Amino acid sequence: MVPPQTLTPPDHELIGSYPESPAGPIDASELAELKQVPEFGLPRMLQVLRFGQRQAEFMLKGRKDFGDVFRFHGIIPGHPVVSGHPDHARSLFTAKPELVPTLTSESPLRPIVGPNSVLTSQGDVHLRQRRLLLPAFHGPALDNYQAVIERAIDAEIDRWQVGETIPIAGPMQDVTLEVILSGIFGIERLDEASRVERKLAKVIRRITELSTTPIAKISEYVNVGRTEPVGVQAAALKVIDNAIYDVIAERRADSGLADRSDIMSALIKARDEDGSELSDSELRDQLLTLLLAGHETTANSMAWAWERLTRTPDAYEELHDAVRNDREDRADQVEYVIQEAMRARPVVPIVGRRVQAPWRLGEYGVPAGTPVSASIFLIHHREDLYPQPWEFKPERWVGHKPGTYEWLPFGGGMRRCAGAALAMVEMRVVIDRMAERLQLEADRPEAEHVQHRNVTMIPKRGARVIIRDKR
Ligand code: HEM
Repeated sequence: MVPPQTLTPPDHELIGSYPESPAGPIDASELAELKQVPEFGLPRMLQVLRFGQRQAEFMLKGRKDFGDVFRFHGIIPGHPVVSGHPDHARSLFTAKPELVPTLTSESPLRPIVGPNSVLTSQGDVHLRQRRLLLPAFHGPALDNYQAVIERAIDAEIDRWQVGETIPIAGPMQDVTLEVILSGIFGIERLDEASRVERKLAKVIRRITELSTTPIAKISEYVNVGRTEPVGVQAAALKVIDNAIYDVIAERRADSGLADRSDIMSALIKARDEDGSELSDSELRDQLLTLLLAGHETTANSMAWAWERLTRTPDAYEELHDAVRNDREDRADQVEYVIQEAMRARPVVPIVGRRVQAPWRLGEYGVPAGTPVSASIFLIHHREDLYPQPWEFKPERWVGHKPGTYEWLPFGGGMRRCAGAALAMVEMRVVIDRMAERLQLEADRPEAEHVQHRNVTMIPKRGARVIIRDKR
């Protein structure tokens, strides 16, 4: 290992502080003394569209006009309140779970992943599901993924030609899909999968591609607030469901089930306290959740990292140098890039809870039953907390660990992303490998626009890069 030669000195000017703001559950008399949350005057439908299509600008406008807390008309019923203050996020993430049920059970995800998904369930059911799933994505289980990730990214890089221009989000999705499928099915590579398993992989890939089309977007609006999907979304889900149910039937019939430790077998073998097993539709909801939550988010986070790196030559050069010369701070430099990319472009830009008690958010108060969201995007772009918030500066993180409520790309509290540790491993391996083997260049100098797909924020042109060199 070569010792670091150009280790950037810690520059804490790039991490600042912010004024404290009291937040959390209060009683009715306190509520009466607090101010009402300010709201946009735009027509209701326009607000819904702005939130769905141009959320980043809409949130920034809210902050400019009203400050840290404001409310708008979105797709979630009840005139949602949004905050861009870390103390307010902390109040939502540290409250008793029964006071802060997640809004995902009311979001556009609900008709897709169904009522039994760990993403949408509440209370004891949610706790049981998390306990069942978490071991598959933490601790020793993570070691099993390492080789799968390395092989998958190497296979992608081998396919690329020098001089070629590619939207990097696509191949990143192939890698992350392979990783999550390997965990679910207990296989090391996709070509070891059975015919029905391979068919499911193909279907998922195709449907995620189609989900950015305008017709899919319209269908998303049509389905909000429904428990069962309708229209194009229903048709697409039928195709996915058939593929999933085939996979479930095949695995249930597997004579070696007792000895298998993959996620799918674990779910099939799991028993409730009363000894009952998961039904096919419960299994379907869980598997689809892991497939969707587990691959697109991570793929687009990596795509954003390259979109940013290829437009920030100093940062790219520093990463290259650390990785290619195997500097002592190699792993740290990769980590800083990931942290900064997830700060600057959080793929899930907002998370919310429906508060079950009156709640204080600084000088404002809201009654019980109000949907309250933390805008990850706004928190990550606070001038006081992250000076020069629009600059991509991995060196921001040298000697500084991200604060739990200041850097929250994975949300927080009892609903914090169940796959965060796996996603971090994937990003570490892939970014390191790509820095080692490739020299990339942005195909255009200007930053890629943001596109909102369902609850995610992704690079509009898929993070297009030119492969300038390859090892
Ligand atoms: C960079 C990649 C990822 C990002 C940015 C991300 C982000 C998030 C966010 C913001 C939430 C909601 C948290 C909250 O409400 O506080 C979430 C939940 C969840 N994520 Fe991820 N995620 C990523 C990767 C993954 C992966 C790889 C998996 C699966 C292996 C996964 C599975 C889940 C599940 C199951 C939940 C629901 C947790 C619950 O409600 O208890 N995610 N994720």
